Amino acid sequence: MNSTGAPVVHAAVDTSRGTAALRDLAADDVDHIVAYLHDERDEHLNSLIDRKKLRSREETRFRFLSAVRTGDINQRHVAFAITVAGRFAGFTNLVRYTPQDNYSHWHMTDPRLRAGGLSAALYPYRINLYFDLYPIERLIHQTKTHNVGVNRMLDKYVPIAATRYIERPDGAASADEFHLRYVFRDDIPRFFAIVAGLSRNRRGGER
Ligand SMILES: CC(C)(COP(=O)(O)OP(=O)(O)OC[C@H]1O[C@@H](n2cnc3c(N)ncnc32)[C@H](O)[C@@H]1OP(=O)(O)O)[C@@H](O)C(=O)NCCC(=O)NCCS
Repeated sequence: MNSTGAPVVHAAVDTSRGTAALRDLAADDVDHIVAYLHDERDEHLNSLIDRKKLRSREETRFRFLSAVRTGDINQRHVAFAITVAGRFAGFTNLVRYTPQDNYSHWHMTDPRLRAGGLSAALYPYRINLYFDLYPIERLIHQTKTHNVGVNRMLDKYVPIAATRYIERPDGAASADEFHLRYVFRDDIPRFFAIVAGLSRNRRGGER
């Protein structure tokens, strides 16, 4: 929270859909996350999540309320809200085990906002946020090979390091074949150069 009691905004980017931002999760956001994880029945989400791993709505609510950033660098699970034009549009969470083993998850919960370049535009800010707040040495992206959107988005920034079947992936994901990508602190300036190039190309295309 900042001095006015509002959640801290960590990054804000102008996009054609309005300002896309990353801010601390607030308790009011948690109902959106619970509804998305427990009530969404779209085929895509069903292909990603193992709902047996989720247990009850109350446990999910408790898990995300506990993931509101406390400011303690030892907080192992922390979540942030993605907003577009001031509205909750999704969430990302960072789960830390050791300096080398850290996973992040990213969900645009509003399907109308997918495939519009928002996740790609926020990616460097997202990574900077994790590494800025916590003593991470390596972040691991574990993405299902059939999840076209997330892989196209990551392909812009980080190459695939390995592909394999994972029986017990991080978080609520079900067993599947995954691409693994590794991100290090030193990669961040390159990510910002890439996003600057993406927005230059977009502006060029708009002329
Ligand atoms: C997958 C997801 C994270 C991608 O984020 P996004 O904001 O939709 O991605 P972007 O628009 O930045 O996508 C980057 C590129 O992928 C393309 N893309 C995105 N989703 C796509 C899809 N479903 N099919 C084909 N292309 C897709 C975009 O058009 C864009 O194309 P470009 O290379 O021509 O610019 C988002 O759609 C989402 O949250 N989905 C539901 C949850 C999920 O799958 N989370 C990831 C779990 S690992």
